[in-house]
Amino acid sequence: MERTSLQPSRFTQYIRTYSNQRLEWLAIDSFKDALHSLSAGLPPNEEYIVALLSAGTEQMPELLSAADRMRRREVGEAVHLRAIIEFSNFCRKNCLYCGLRRDNRSLPRYRLTEQQILDAAGEAAVLGFRTVVLQSGEDPYYRPADIARVVEKIKSSCDLAVTLSLGEHSRQTYKIWREAGADRYLLKQETADERLFKYLKPDTSLSKRVQCLCWLKELGYQTGSGNMVGLPGQSLHTLAQDIMLMQELDVDMAGIGPFLPHPATPLKDAAPGGLELTLKTLALTRICLPQAHLPATTALCTLTTDGRRMALSGGANVIMPNLTPPAVRSKYLIYPQKADISEKPAVALAEITALLAEMGRPLASGPGHATKTNRKSFFTDDKSDK
Ligand code: 5AD
Ligand code: SF4
Repeated sequence: MERTSLQPSRFTQYIRTYSNQRLEWLAIDSFKDALHSLSAGLPPNEEYIVALLSAGTEQMPELLSAADRMRRREVGEAVHLRAIIEFSNFCRKNCLYCGLRRDNRSLPRYRLTEQQILDAAGEAAVLGFRTVVLQSGEDPYYRPADIARVVEKIKSSCDLAVTLSLGEHSRQTYKIWREAGADRYLLKQETADERLFKYLKPDTSLSKRVQCLCWLKELGYQTGSGNMVGLPGQSLHTLAQDIMLMQELDVDMAGIGPFLPHPATPLKDAAPGGLELTLKTLALTRICLPQAHLPATTALCTLTTDGRRMALSGGANVIMPNLTPPAVRSKYLIYPQKADISEKPAVALAEITALLAEMGRPLASGPGHATKTNRKSFFTDDKSDK
C-alpha cells in the first residue's frame, strides 16, 4: 500500500513510541531524584521543586506521603488549633484579589469594639484554645496603642498565645505590639514574583513586605508567611520561588491556599487555583521547611469539603477555627463562599475532634509555639506536645 505523508512508517512509529517512553522514564526519574534529594534535606533547588510541582495525579500519593512522613518526624502527630478573630474588615489597601479591598463598595464594613474582641478571646480560652489570632484588614482606625492594650489585656487575663495578622506597619509599631506581649505575626508574602506582586498589590512592593518580615523576626516574633496558589500569571517557577523565599526567611509558619476569585474584584473572571497544585505546594513546603507550622487553610476547605483531611494527610499540622462573632462573620468576605462563615465554634470543635480521632491524630495540649530548635532566647519552646 502506498504511504501518504500522514502515515508514519513502522520504523518512525517505533522511534516515537520509544522516545515517548524514554521521556516518561526521564520524568519518573527526575521526580524520584528530586523527591529524594529534597527529603534528605539538600538545599531546595528551583528545578527540583518545579519537577515535583509538575508531578502527575499518579505521583501525588508518593509526594503527599513523603510530606506526611516528614511532618510526623519533625513536628509530631499533634494538631494545633488557633482561634481566629477577624475584628475589622476595613482596609486601606486595594489588592486586586481581595474582597476587603478599599474599592469594594458593595461590602458592608464592620469593626469590633475592644470589649467585643476581648469577649471573643475569652470565649476561645474557655473552649480550650491556647492561641488566638487577631486578624483584620489594614485599618488605621485602631491606633498602635489600641492594639497594644488589647494584646496586654488578653495576655494578662487568659493563658493564650497571641498572633497578630494586621498587615504592613512600621518597625516601631511592630515593636510596641511585641512589647505588649504579642507572640507571633502572620504576614503572607502572597507571591514571590516581584512583578506579579506589584500588579496584585499596587499599594506596596515585595521588598517592603520582606522588610516587614525581617523586622518581625528581629523583634523576636514567631513569624509566618504564605502564598496563594493559582494566581493569574503565576508559574510553577513562581511557586518554587515562594517556597524558597520562605526557606530563606526561615519562617515558623506558612499558610498555603488556593486563589479564589471574588466577584467584586478586578480578578473576578480569573480561574481559581487547583486542588492538586495546592496540595502539591503544601506538601513541598513541608518537605522544604520540615519544622514549620502549616495550617489546613480555610481557602483550601472552601475549594473542597474534604480539604481539611487532605491537608492534614499531606503535611499540615494546624487548624484555625473561626471565633469571629456570628453577627459580623459573613462580612469578612475575602473570597466568596468562605467555608467557615456559618460554623459555630462548639460544632466546629466537635467536627475537628471527630476528624482527628478518625485520623489517629491527637489535639495538641500546649500553645504550639514555633518548633525550631535553633530559635533564639525570646521564647520558651514548648515541645511537650510536639
Ligand atoms: N483567594 C484566596 N485567598 C485570598 N486572600 C485574600 N483574598 C483571597 C482570594 N481571593 C488571602 C490572602 C491574605 C488573606 C487575608 O486572605 O492570602 O493574606
Ligand atoms: Fe487589605 Fe489584606 Fe485584603 Fe490586601 S489582602 S486588601 S491588605 S485585607
